[in-house]
Amino acid sequence: MNDKKTFYITTPIYYPSDKLHIGHTYSTVAADTMARYKRLQGCDVFFLTGTDEHGQKIEDKAKEAGVTPKEYVDNIVAGIKELWKLMNISNDKFIRTTDGYHEKAVQRIFEKMYEKGDIYKGKYEGLYCKPCESFWTETQAVDGKCPDCGRPVYKAEEEAYFFKLSNYADRLVKYYEEHPGFIEPVSRQNEMINNFIKPGLQDLCISRSSFKWGIPVPVNPDHVIYVWLDALTNYITALGYAGEDDSLYKKFWPANVQLIGKDIVRFHTIYWPAFLMSLDIPCPDKVYAHGWVLLEGGKMSKSKGNVVDPVILAERYGVDALRYYLLREIAFGSDGVFSNENLINRINSDLANDLGNLLSRTVSMVEKYFAGTIPAEREASEYDANLIDTAKTAAQKAQENLDALNYSVALAEIWKLISATNKYIDETTPWILAKDESNKAKLANVMYNLCECLRITSVLIAPFMPATAPKIREQLGIEKDFVWDEAFTYGERATYSVVKGEIIFPRLDMQKEIEELSAASGVKENPLKEEIEGIAKIDIDEFAKTDLRAAKIIDCFPVKKAKKLLQLTLDVGTGENRTVASGIAKWYKPEDLIGKTVILVSNLKPAVLCGVESCGMILAADAGEDDVKVVFLDGVPAGSKIR
Ligand code: ME8
Ligand code: MG
Repeated sequence: MNDKKTFYITTPIYYPSDKLHIGHTYSTVAADTMARYKRLQGCDVFFLTGTDEHGQKIEDKAKEAGVTPKEYVDNIVAGIKELWKLMNISNDKFIRTTDGYHEKAVQRIFEKMYEKGDIYKGKYEGLYCKPCESFWTETQAVDGKCPDCGRPVYKAEEEAYFFKLSNYADRLVKYYEEHPGFIEPVSRQNEMINNFIKPGLQDLCISRSSFKWGIPVPVNPDHVIYVWLDALTNYITALGYAGEDDSLYKKFWPANVQLIGKDIVRFHTIYWPAFLMSLDIPCPDKVYAHGWVLLEGGKMSKSKGNVVDPVILAERYGVDALRYYLLREIAFGSDGVFSNENLINRINSDLANDLGNLLSRTVSMVEKYFAGTIPAEREASEYDANLIDTAKTAAQKAQENLDALNYSVALAEIWKLISATNKYIDETTPWILAKDESNKAKLANVMYNLCECLRITSVLIAPFMPATAPKIREQLGIEKDFVWDEAFTYGERATYSVVKGEIIFPRLDMQKEIEELSAASGVKENPLKEEIEGIAKIDIDEFAKTDLRAAKIIDCFPVKKAKKLLQLTLDVGTGENRTVASGIAKWYKPEDLIGKTVILVSNLKPAVLCGVESCGMILAADAGEDDVKVVFLDGVPAGSKIR
């Protein structure tokens, strides 16, 4: 990150296709924390978020709901704005890609690229994933499924406009090389080079004629602009680029940090810089891809239905507790698992115990021993030096790690100060000092150091927990407004007059919370158990209809037309062989199978799979996210019945 006085940070613009979940909240809270940190440092900050409202998916959903696309998105966008208000998100602007100024600017951008010769008309054939609005090549699609979301893709073809992305491959690689830190974490950069740029960048289809809900192509209104050109350019149109007044653009572009999730790295580090190069404007300083917030059962997604509702959590535990948890629990850049249990544990240990208790103990002691105001006369203790050093280190490390977007490390460093302050109470034993009037100056010193550490903590946590910081300061009787540099002024304050307030983080009863949360949010604490229990029961006669037999694989070879199929020849003990096609080519080679005995569903009706007549099916287990294991039998003759 550079030192310029302006600071521009963005989040992805979210699809208003459904309710936003904890994952989107994570992205936005991370960006907000950075924006607040930079404001505290005195930067002129512009923080942008918004919504990505065009595309076939929205058009389809609106149709389903029986409303116009605009009505459909208006309703959801209102909810998204509410959510950000609730989460205390301090964005300076909220862009909607349906905003008139954005639509006009995107058309001008299209024209600019067209005039430059970077856009031409062609024909697009590919595999299309509707939910992701992405075209994939045969090699990119995995077993006929979208490599991003795993849903099926289908062949699509249409006349379309193309952006000459292929012209930018060398410039992109050169740009990465000359700008270390442009893509972070750096592993993502290698992924982009090896998986996308090296195999050859294909020109990018940037228009569609198969649906209407989009910005019309200026040179051909039968087409709408493909959503990623529309979406990505929001980061500059929001500042007035190609609009009436581009003063914000002149002031803030290029962005200092563009935060994204790891699912959209390709769009932000290949398409986006190529678009900018085509427009002859500079690329952002940094695109940072954070990891996934996962649920214990796997990836969280709107389509899987296992989302966690941030509104329920924020209303129940407070926005700051949720913000803290998200940024503390998950190392930024890596995936992390969200669980209600961990959230409650963190609230109880880090917030209620470590921080909340420290504040209430300190304020109570100052009230009890000094009627609220710490006397000016103070006598140092042997434990001070270590504490003061810890406070200075915490400020320094919090700053370094925030600069590097290592939110969780920054918080861990701050919590070292909180722990050290708690330990200082145990070391100095103020309750013993208080027994003897002659220790008054020593006791005053202890109270002063406790308040100083809490004051510094209030500054350091402010970007993360914007509502808690002023609450702490209020109880310490100090001003609510402050700057970041105040974290580096240990010992400069004359004294404190405290005011006892309410408990900032009440302790929670784990069991009660877990029960009530599961009921309220529909989070499945044990999704496997619920899945199994949710399956309809059958009686034994129904099961008996399935004829399971041991069968020995006597031959096996790949099916030419279908990458994922193996054709098996089975000895079923009758003297006649059986042919079965099985979708296990990804996990097994013929030589792994020949000679093995497997379980055959022998009375399955024959079906033709990619030209092979398959008479039955062999049993295999879903052994993981993307792993399949065939069930093998040992020492069972072919033809034996299994029941
Ligand atoms: O992709 N964990 O919008 P989107 C962490 N409109 N982050 C998550 C997450 C999770 N489980 N789920 C979502 C789009 N996110 C496009 C973006 S930008 C020009 C256009 C976050 O609504 C993450 O940042 O699908 C991800 O990249 C973003 O939400 C995408 O949200
Ligand atoms: Mg997405």
